[in-house]
Amino acid sequence: MKVKVAINGYGTIGKRVADAVRLQEDMEVVGVTKTKPDFEARLAVERGYKLYVAIPENVNRFEEAGIEISGTINDLLAECDVVVDCSPGKVGASNKPLYEKAGVKAIFQGGEKKDVAEVSFSTLANYDAAIGKDFVRVVSCNTTGLSRLLATVRRAGNIRKVRATMLRRVVDPKEDKKGLVNGIMPDPVRLPSHHGPDVQTVMPDINIITTAFKVPTTLMHVHAVSIEMPEVNADDVLAILENEPRLMLVSAEEGFTSTARIIEYARELRMRYDLFENVIWKESVAYNDGELFVTQAIHQESIVVPENVDAIRAMFELADKEESIRKTNKSLGIA
Ligand SMILES: NC(=O)c1ccc[n+]([C@@H]2O[C@H](COP(=O)([O-])OP(=O)(O)OC[C@H]3O[C@@H](n4cnc5c(N)ncnc54)[C@H](OP(=O)(O)O)[C@@H]3O)[C@@H](O)[C@H]2O)c1
Repeated sequence: MKVKVAINGYGTIGKRVADAVRLQEDMEVVGVTKTKPDFEARLAVERGYKLYVAIPENVNRFEEAGIEISGTINDLLAECDVVVDCSPGKVGASNKPLYEKAGVKAIFQGGEKKDVAEVSFSTLANYDAAIGKDFVRVVSCNTTGLSRLLATVRRAGNIRKVRATMLRRVVDPKEDKKGLVNGIMPDPVRLPSHHGPDVQTVMPDINIITTAFKVPTTLMHVHAVSIEMPEVNADDVLAILENEPRLMLVSAEEGFTSTARIIEYARELRMRYDLFENVIWKESVAYNDGELFVTQAIHQESIVVPENVDAIRAMFELADKEESIRKTNKSLGIA
């Protein structure tokens, strides 16, 4: 029996989660939703997804546009075991009563507050916490990037404290309602940023403080991370990082001099130039006077995709952590 998965919100994250779920042998996509009958709705149908209308009052608009629909969100909820809510930030919480009424499990994304779900989730940090749960929140792209890194570094020794500065892409590439700002914007200005407490939703014992800036790029985020830990050897840490498939080690010497070059590589490697892995610059991994330094780049549009797939497995107890990671990685080409 395959777990029946609905995707509520076929946008940047939703379309990627749908395609990833489709690749799994133990789950299937029963339908996706849109509120607007635009080209993305038409593409969903062309790709073979059953399309449902997320806001029932909009059904006429789809009919007028000649886009084939299979019903509304309420019909879709009657068909599924779990809904992956990929609606815009804060909208997921307002959708939750629908899921409760339909008696289906739900996964929310990082744009929601933590109290939308029973548990905040990041595979390497706390897979087991989602086992059997009904409501799970996959943490944001930045939090996923930090949590994965810290969960892996912790294999080398105890982490005393973490300080991270994040340079965040200002918007996603498709955005045309707000644009690039010709400047570097402290965001938030009041420190620290919310990302540290968000990491603590999946790794409560980590002492972490973060700062964040928006920078005029759409491609990726970059994190400069300093991790205070007792005597470790940078080469040993590097070996541990290289061994974790959800991290990709690259080198400036080999031409990876910026996120632009990383994305150029991804364009050759993957559909939609998705990089599901944290991309870590090898040369950045250094240990000095009790602190480990790491610089990593995060492809915001795709990094949470494997975590959504793993969250489904944990919630339905389809596999333990290692098996789920192995299956998800294999299906997505994470080597
Ligand atoms: N993009 C990122 O970098 C990123 C990274 C990690 C996590 N996240 C989180 O993932 C979530 C989704 O973000 P996104 O970037 O994928 O947003 P997005 O590209 O704007 O897509 C949102 C989708 O939700 C649909 N939608 C709008 N109102 C809805 C409603 N009331 N009910 C159901 N669906 C609705 C939209 O359909 P229409 O287009 O038809 O209106 C659209 O397909 C947010 O919580 C965000 O914080 C985003």
